[in-house]
Amino acid sequence: MGGGFDAPRFFPRVGEERAIGRPARLAFRAARVLSRPLALHQPSPRSDPPRRVVVRAPATSANLGPGFDALGLALDLWMEVQADVAEGITTVHSDQGPPERDSQNLIVRAAFAAFEAAGRPPVALSLRCINTIPMGRGLGSSAAAIAAGLRLGAALAGARLGDDELLVLANRLEGHPDNVAPALLGGIRVAVSDGDGVVSTVQVHPPIHLMAVAFIPEVRIPTEDARAALPHEVPFADAAFNIGRAALLVAALAAGDLRLLREATRDRMHQPYRATLFPAGPRLIKAALRAGAAGAFTSGAGPTVLALCGPDTSTIDVTRALLASAEADGLEGSARTLSLSERGAHVVHAA
Ligand code: HSE
Repeated sequence: MGGGFDAPRFFPRVGEERAIGRPARLAFRAARVLSRPLALHQPSPRSDPPRRVVVRAPATSANLGPGFDALGLALDLWMEVQADVAEGITTVHSDQGPPERDSQNLIVRAAFAAFEAAGRPPVALSLRCINTIPMGRGLGSSAAAIAAGLRLGAALAGARLGDDELLVLANRLEGHPDNVAPALLGGIRVAVSDGDGVVSTVQVHPPIHLMAVAFIPEVRIPTEDARAALPHEVPFADAAFNIGRAALLVAALAAGDLRLLREATRDRMHQPYRATLFPAGPRLIKAALRAGAAGAFTSGAGPTVLALCGPDTSTIDVTRALLASAEADGLEGSARTLSLSERGAHVVHAA
């Protein structure tokens, strides 16, 4: 974060003061002053910002069963966006839809939010997007768009916006932090936001290798519909059920105790209500568990089902079970085995 720069070697380094004796102290002090992160000596973040930036942002799976709006993980499945500073108006070309010519696109809105946070007026952009994240399936395509837009906006604005700051912007655009935190920062994450939109997040580091098998239905369920299916209140017993399991899930992942995941991924707060939109979901979850998955749940708002598998589980068995369950339900879709991603959205090229 905002460090200094290496002082020229003819000055002694910090820590060498004793060895150099009195005559050189002035030079030492000069070195210390020069080593401080003074704006005067830093490459100015506002000078020559790049005109082309390429960023990647990962798919994410949110909730992980009981952790509604609070738990999520990044997957090794990516959206890539190339942004060029353009003349005239902002345009978006995506491999997943017709070209757009307005700033309502989520990547653009996020990019402009980063410009605004940096205190810079937005510039016209030409965006080209290649998205391998299926949209409207519960795999965080909106969060990836937001994370990509923020990273490229910050880079094009030549701004040093910290992750905390970007996370606040991402949360504001998405409305909840469980997808955007892993989309921006990677890993398995707990993320909550306070009343002012400040996000507290921590990464969970399982000491064992986890894989995910996703069954991705052809059908799309817009997040608004999936949220509209939720009740305004839940029974106290169900809230207590979920709190215990969300805590157990985080602790079990941190300890690498996958035997606990079957119980720890159970949910009574959203999946039962959303089953009305996608009745095949509970059967897919059961099929994955029967085939040996450590835990399985609706990915985000659905309809994708995600199964977590440890080193002792055959992801092929889980994939077969998911496909067989889908076939029995007459459900179109595909299964994918995915690694989890430690990396969140990042700039791959800037010039
Ligand atoms: N936590 C969110 C939900 C994730 O379940 O509605 C989808 O954006």
